[in-house]
Amino acid sequence: MSFSIETNRLLLRPFRLADAETLAAYRSDPLVAAYQSWDTPYRLEQATALIHELAEVQPGIPGAWFQIAIEERASGALLGDCVFCVLAEEPHQAEIGYTLARQHQGAGYASEAVRALLGYLFGTLGLHRVRAICDERNRASQRLLERLGMRREAHFVEYVWHKGEWASDYWYAMLRREWEG
Ligand SMILES: CC(C)(COP(=O)(O)OP(=O)(O)OC[C@H]1O[C@@H](n2cnc3c(N)ncnc32)[C@H](O)[C@@H]1OP(=O)(O)O)[C@@H](O)C(=O)NCCC(=O)NCCS
Repeated sequence: MSFSIETNRLLLRPFRLADAETLAAYRSDPLVAAYQSWDTPYRLEQATALIHELAEVQPGIPGAWFQIAIEERASGALLGDCVFCVLAEEPHQAEIGYTLARQHQGAGYASEAVRALLGYLFGTLGLHRVRAICDERNRASQRLLERLGMRREAHFVEYVWHKGEWASDYWYAMLRREWEG
């Protein structure tokens, strides 16, 4: 069964090859990539290869990142993506991530998408705990996680070598019982 979640304004769905150009474009934006794992420019061939790889991945397989396209329902435009990985070492828990193209930031799309993703992880998959890791300089990401009710649990100081410097990260988390309120 194909992955699909609808929200008020959005459709969360698997990536398809027609998304490659848009994916490469927003991943090539240095501001979008600043705290992310990939380097810029992010070429069309890399986007195409990633989409081919993603086609082999089922959601919820421990250790496998499942990346989900965020589409605006009204226009069909690809706005960005969100991603999750059920932890290989603890399959009742997952880590999430998210990215919006710069021109689609500041409109609440990430909150709407990640809220739906949390609903899927806690509701459909029945996970116990979800975490997110975010660079201490990434204020927009921290505001998003706090808006969603996630708790800042840790501050790891200069513990990851990222793009030529030591970076510090905040770890956030939420439990299913907190989500259910
Ligand atoms: C992290 C990221 C997804 C956050 O995006 P965002 O657009 O700020 O978050 P949302 O889509 O939820 O939008 C919320 C903002 O839109 C505003 N907004 C406008 N209209 C809105 C609406 N209808 N509903 C909700 N919020 C709305 C909110 O006030 C909020 O602004 P604020 O944070 O300045 O208070 C984005 O900055 C990004 O893609 N960054 C690059 C990738 C990245 O670093 N990812 C995280 C790695 S940990």
